Amino acid sequence: MNEQDKLKKAVGEKAATMVKDGMKVGLGSGSTVYWMIRSLGERIQKDGLKIEGIPSSNQTAIWAEEAGIPLTDFSHVKELDITIDGADEVDANNHLIKGGGAALFREKVIAQAAKEFVIIVDQSKIVDTLGEFSLPVEVLPFSWHRTANEISKLGCVPTLRVNEEEPLVTDNGNYILDCPFKVIPFPDKLNKEIKSIVGVIETGLFIDMVTTVIVGEKDNINIK
Ligand code: A5P
Repeated sequence: MNEQDKLKKAVGEKAATMVKDGMKVGLGSGSTVYWMIRSLGERIQKDGLKIEGIPSSNQTAIWAEEAGIPLTDFSHVKELDITIDGADEVDANNHLIKGGGAALFREKVIAQAAKEFVIIVDQSKIVDTLGEFSLPVEVLPFSWHRTANEISKLGCVPTLRVNEEEPLVTDNGNYILDCPFKVIPFPDKLNKEIKSIVGVIETGLFIDMVTTVIVGEKDNINIK
């Protein structure tokens, strides 16, 4: 395991300790969340931890089932106790860019539904200002060319995310536009501008949603 994976494992395991008996848990997506899910699975097997999870992606649902985490959905659950997820960038105000794994829409749903929203990252994700990571935006396939053109007026040239030369299709049947703004000095304003474009399903900007960030640093876990 390389150094970065060790940090991901450490923060994943740390976040799993925040989950208590009886909690409804939002399960994020990505390689850092993978370790958190494994750790929850161990607590279910060894300690008899009783929880239910709502997964933010089909891949997460598969990992959760393998780990023995019972799954539920929003027809049974109004509010989540805690959601734990990774991120692609975390700025000085704990605003985020997410969606590198194309799961941003459901991730934002489980983030907004939760009393506590915990982010787990290795130190490479910490930035002063968002934007170096191209902002993922989920869009309706029907109008994606037009939506991309409208987003381009805000200061970037969006590209359609592809997988083996075909458009990547999200778990919701939509497309992802990757938007290289380079610097996003006013993320709240940009989020509102992009959201106002018809055809945009959701953006990867998570503004004022986070309660705790757990950062894996060399020889240390920093909680902010
Ligand atoms: C998934 O859509 C993303 O928001 C992930 O949470 C993000 O890309 C972090 O993934 P890693 O933990 O794999 O870096």
